[in-house]
Amino acid sequence: MNKDPNLIFLIGFMGCGKSTLGKKVATKTGYSFIDLDDLICQKINMSISEYFDLHGEAAFREIERETLHSLYGIKNTIVATGGGTPCYDDNMQWMNKNGKTVYLKIPPKALLSRLSQKDIDSRPLLKGKSHEELLAFIESKLEERSPFYKQAKIIYDVLQSNPKDLIKQIVL
Ligand code: S3P
Repeated sequence: MNKDPNLIFLIGFMGCGKSTLGKKVATKTGYSFIDLDDLICQKINMSISEYFDLHGEAAFREIERETLHSLYGIKNTIVATGGGTPCYDDNMQWMNKNGKTVYLKIPPKALLSRLSQKDIDSRPLLKGKSHEELLAFIESKLEERSPFYKQAKIIYDVLQSNPKDLIKQIVL
């Protein structure tokens, strides 16, 4: 089994702060930082929203899986995954096998309040929804995805923890 604890996968719902926390922890630990969505955009040469419109979600999930698996073997890196990454195909199992997974846990209302209009407009699953629709969507999608997120090795409570707590746990 290829088990590299120096590859860290941050997982959790859209808006939970995976990229922000990932960049902070990377700066403090000297690890590299990769945003999976950015890597996908480089590959497809367009935004995720444009890709969804052109090819649909199923095609996106295939590219997402391929891009995740392309990280095999990299070291000393923090990866911010997409909100749906752990919930499709064998992705969660793959991440647990090849690195250390961290679930950034945060309740739906707090998630919603952290999402700016720009964040909403750039995410195909959120755009065009009213405030009420967004809250209902986040609540049900989070419940649906929680069984996957909860398979993470480490649970990071976004409202209670700080980056130092995480650094202590991952750089062991
Ligand atoms: C998605 C989350 C997005 C992006 C895509 C789909 C999802 O990433 O991968 O829009 O299914 O939750 P972020 O979690 O970085 O917003």
